[in-house]
Amino acid sequence: MEDVPVRSIDYPMTAILRNSVVSFGKINKPTMTSPPLFQRPRRNRKSAAIRALVEETQVTVNDLIFPMFLIEGQNRRSEVPSMPGIFRLTVDLMLREIEECMKLGLRVFDIFPAIEDHWKDETATRSYDPQFFYLKALSEIKKKFPEACIMTDVAMDPYSSDGHDGLLKDGKIVNDETLQILGKMALAQAETGIDIIGPSDMMDGRVGYIRSVLDEQGFTEVSIMSYTAKYASGFYNPFRDALDSAPKFGDKKTYQMNPANSREALLEAQLDVNEGADFLMVKPALAYLDIIQLIRNNFTLPVAAYNVSGEYAMIKAAAKNGWLDGDRVMREILLSIKRAGADIILTYFAKEFASAKTS
Ligand code: PBG
Repeated sequence: MEDVPVRSIDYPMTAILRNSVVSFGKINKPTMTSPPLFQRPRRNRKSAAIRALVEETQVTVNDLIFPMFLIEGQNRRSEVPSMPGIFRLTVDLMLREIEECMKLGLRVFDIFPAIEDHWKDETATRSYDPQFFYLKALSEIKKKFPEACIMTDVAMDPYSSDGHDGLLKDGKIVNDETLQILGKMALAQAETGIDIIGPSDMMDGRVGYIRSVLDEQGFTEVSIMSYTAKYASGFYNPFRDALDSAPKFGDKKTYQMNPANSREALLEAQLDVNEGADFLMVKPALAYLDIIQLIRNNFTLPVAAYNVSGEYAMIKAAAKNGWLDGDRVMREILLSIKRAGADIILTYFAKEFASAKTS
């Protein structure tokens, strides 16, 4: 048998230096031959074709959910000041917007209601009133676009005069009484024909509670995308501007997670799996890429990540100032979220991404 030279991938640097005869005194007559590098990662970057061939991660329109803000009335739209390019729309304009997005290949929409103050109360009564504009609009949207996948939000804050996601009693957010309101809200939304319920409130046991209410009423096909690891984050402010839903006092730290914790995310994920969630979500995305990866590596359910309003606002603001190339960093960020392990990305960039892709 012939001896085959061994090509070591961890070729010792000292040997490389010893074998490379570099004579700095005679630059006109270089004596250096190619150093014996057997691994040259740059070979796989030498042309666009090869770079595409070895590309590990891709973002497509199939991965994206477009969050949208619905307002009451007809033929009205107002831009969210801290989210340039994102508009609160009345149902007629939202139908048109969905139609445009569907032409670009987007098929999944997460619809949030932005509600005027006079409709808000302590128990979020409007959230399960079938005559309320949000629920009526959902039916209309599903009727017009049965092939679209419509996701809704379950939490009290858009409808609450306290601006909290749960029911407030004696200065505290009470868990179990809140579940009953969330159950009614989820049921009323399911009755409109929507596809995915998104509980974003972070109360304990809400996935199981909502699942049993839905199942008892025959809505076994309505999915639950649980906000599994939702952190008490500073990145939600533009969203709260859009909905005018900031807490009237205090903060959300007794229900949303501490940004310092990751093991707790595993506990939340385990509970959501046990309670019947169909998707696990991490929110926000960018400052929590490690949490996305952690959940991806430990659970088999699809993982979603919410590229939240503040993440959108940062990029838009920097791009407006000419400090960043907005389109380029949008792609880089979406890619990073996917690379970390997210199957699904909720992002306000969805339409922009889809438009650029097909143009
Ligand atoms: C509230 C809710 C929030 C978001 C989605 N649902 C804000 C909050 O928890 O205060 C944030 C989304 C975003 O910032 O884009 N239930």
